[in-house]
Amino acid sequence: MKASANAVAPALLCYCLLSRCATGAFDGYGGAMLGSLQFPGVWNISSALLSAVSGTLYLGARDTLLSVDAASLSSKQEAIVWKVPEEKRQLCMNKGKTEADCHNYILVLEFVEKDRIYACGTYAFDPQCAFINTVDFSLQREAGGGVRMEAGKGKCPFDPRQRHTTVMADGVLYSATTNNFMGTMPLISRATGPERERVRTEESSSWLSEPEFVSAALVRENAAGDDEKIYFFFSEVAEEYDLYMKVKTARVARVCKGDVGGMKVLQKRWTSFLKAGLV
Ligand SMILES: *[C@@H]1O[C@H](CO)[C@@H](O)[C@H](O)[C@H]1NC(C)=O
Repeated sequence: MKASANAVAPALLCYCLLSRCATGAFDGYGGAMLGSLQFPGVWNISSALLSAVSGTLYLGARDTLLSVDAASLSSKQEAIVWKVPEEKRQLCMNKGKTEADCHNYILVLEFVEKDRIYACGTYAFDPQCAFINTVDFSLQREAGGGVRMEAGKGKCPFDPRQRHTTVMADGVLYSATTNNFMGTMPLISRATGPERERVRTEESSSWLSEPEFVSAALVRENAAGDDEKIYFFFSEVAEEYDLYMKVKTARVARVCKGDVGGMKVLQKRWTSFLKAGLV
């Protein structure tokens, strides 16, 4: 973990550049900036993770994970296919979703350990997460041969078009997303780790009001002994203005990494959640 600390800055920069590309793809640019040109047959690249140690860039796309050489973006390509079974896709379409949206859009990629990635995809509107071994670039499998999956609800949106963000802090995933099929229930939570520590925001529009998540960051303890914090950047509908029209405003929210919730009504809820307007 320590060794990768220096890698954070370039990784963040690269990630930001790529997420802009990905947003472009969502806006209908067809992912032309990074997509079909370099990677024929690969659609909707929407997540990226850089290993500065090995110089490998991992990309999450539609039903596909790619591993490419970050320097050339073309040589040493490897791909993993992670698809949704046909009958499950049919169920998704029966619920009124389009054929195109009932795929597995891989939206979350984070290192759990040095050589293990946590990947989450929309999985035909039933989000699932899996582990990737980076040594041989493969999906971890169950004894029976199937992909080892974990529920992705609250970690990754159901809808591939919805904005979300995640950050991994010492092997634990913090996520800002929505956790229902309709995409109407936003939350910021500690999404992995021991069950009793899966703390989240209250279901109330004063905590989060139609948010669009942008990014998240871990800030380590500083010299003054201020403890570790997780920051989330997003925009939301401002409730402080009593106007007829909806006003979107930029926000930053902060929770303490050590927050494991409170007592009684605050069980499994953040007790350190604070948010502020960004000017
Ligand atoms: C995937 O990309 C296509 C164009 O390449 C675009 O029309 C479609 O909206 C994208 N889908 C999602 C879920 O972003």
